[in-house]
Amino acid sequence: MSPCALFRSRLPAPLFLFVTVLLSLFAVPAAVGQAGVKLDYEFFKNEVQPIFLAKRNNNVRCIQCHTRSSSFRLQPLEEGQFFWTEEQSRQNFEYASAFVRPGEPPLNSRFLTHPLAASAGGDPFHGGGKHFANQSDPEWRIMADWVAGATKRREPARTVVRIVQTNAAGDNSHIIDPATNRVVGVIENIEIPHGVTGAPDGSQIYISNESLHTLDVVDSRTLRIKRRIHLSGRPNNIAVSKDGGKVYVGIMEAPGAVDVIDVVNMQRVKTVPTVGAIHNVYVTPDGRYAVAGSIQRSTINVIDTRTDEMAWTKEMDSGIRPMIFDTHADGSTKNIYVQLSEFHGFAVVDFNTHEEIARIEHPAIEGEEAHRDGLQGAPAHGLAVSPDGKTLWSTSKVYSHAYIHSLPDLKEIGRVHVGQHPEWITFTPDGKTVYIGAAGDNATYAVDAKTMTVVAKIDVGQTPKRIGTVLMQQDQ
Ligand code: HEC
Repeated sequence: MSPCALFRSRLPAPLFLFVTVLLSLFAVPAAVGQAGVKLDYEFFKNEVQPIFLAKRNNNVRCIQCHTRSSSFRLQPLEEGQFFWTEEQSRQNFEYASAFVRPGEPPLNSRFLTHPLAASAGGDPFHGGGKHFANQSDPEWRIMADWVAGATKRREPARTVVRIVQTNAAGDNSHIIDPATNRVVGVIENIEIPHGVTGAPDGSQIYISNESLHTLDVVDSRTLRIKRRIHLSGRPNNIAVSKDGGKVYVGIMEAPGAVDVIDVVNMQRVKTVPTVGAIHNVYVTPDGRYAVAGSIQRSTINVIDTRTDEMAWTKEMDSGIRPMIFDTHADGSTKNIYVQLSEFHGFAVVDFNTHEEIARIEHPAIEGEEAHRDGLQGAPAHGLAVSPDGKTLWSTSKVYSHAYIHSLPDLKEIGRVHVGQHPEWITFTPDGKTVYIGAAGDNATYAVDAKTMTVVAKIDVGQTPKRIGTVLMQQDQ
């Protein structure tokens, strides 16, 4: 019988709590156990603590109960904060450590047995319910790894390609496996998810949260929100730097800005002022620039990613909607393809001279009902260049189609019907399949890039718009 259980069986509850807290304060050193195994504070802070904040289906979150009258005590979050301060994290670490027997078999630690289902080796009862059905639950594994002395996450079993479709009128985002065209996961609990992108190593997914004005960091292996990072205003779209260290967030509030988020230390490090509120931001394929567009001021704002200072701006004659780029042979940016407010097509801007060099208008499609309602000033709102740089895809909300042009000559080479109000476009890395969010159909269309035909219509959430291709690490 463990000393804790021994105390518990002999002492009345209040005295037991008192003794446990005393033990946690005076045990020296509190966090060193079997065979010198030491509990790691950083791992606890960054990997274990998010589990106490995460919403699991039909469970109350740990933090809702454990800030009150429990010997396993979590500090209450400060007003308006989504994570603990350093001092609070240290206190949480002390309290949690009191219910852990470092380095011993996991089922010796009350911290691990209490929230674990009894059928999986957990103890019979936890006033807070059972949160983990089995010992391979990825969150329970993180807690068990901490108890075993881990200082970093274990190596992933594999890293896979996924398409993430955010639902603009939903509180969730759907994850599609491009090998099967099925939904294989749902990221819950982000109301009005806007843009999505992923860490280059597949460890996490970033989603801008329009309801809370945060950048939400989602753990790829657990699909739980790991952090919510405060932004300077209401966000729109986002982009990740080539090295994965920073995420750029367009701030859709006057006077306009791009927030720079350090996703290693999980904090906003800079707010770069722009000319006008920002709708979309992109990192160029060579990683050198972050390019942000303003609808209200019709400006393209180009930020140097080495200094995070404005390099140049360009004013167009209409609001800036989605943009995309192609490259010269050396990888540097060649053109910006840009959709504009009230224009059914796209313009082409030379990245070096900053001059507009072409404008392509999409023709009407005979026999196709034209949608004029609910366009939000953007008849064409989705662009992508194929990974081989040979085709440009542009969606039309008016005619429910994607128009496909060859590059560099900009000749229309095909069209494909992709549902009502088609929006953003993303390619698989091999260039074989194109995914398009059809906001009016609550579906994502998968199109074979070569034959330009729809191969799957995948049901997702409410009003799917922004879409991204990401890598995701997996535990098994
Ligand atoms: C609905 C409220 C509630 C939630 C949610 C909850 N707990 Fe508890 N927890 C309790 C209560 C009540 C007790 C004391 C009674 C008991 O031991 O079951 C307790 C006891 C514990 C203990 C043992 C403390 C002791 O004094 O022995 C641990 C460890 C613990 N909880 C961990 C967790 C973790 C980890 C989570 C989230 C994964 C969690 N709890 C979620 C209510 C909750």
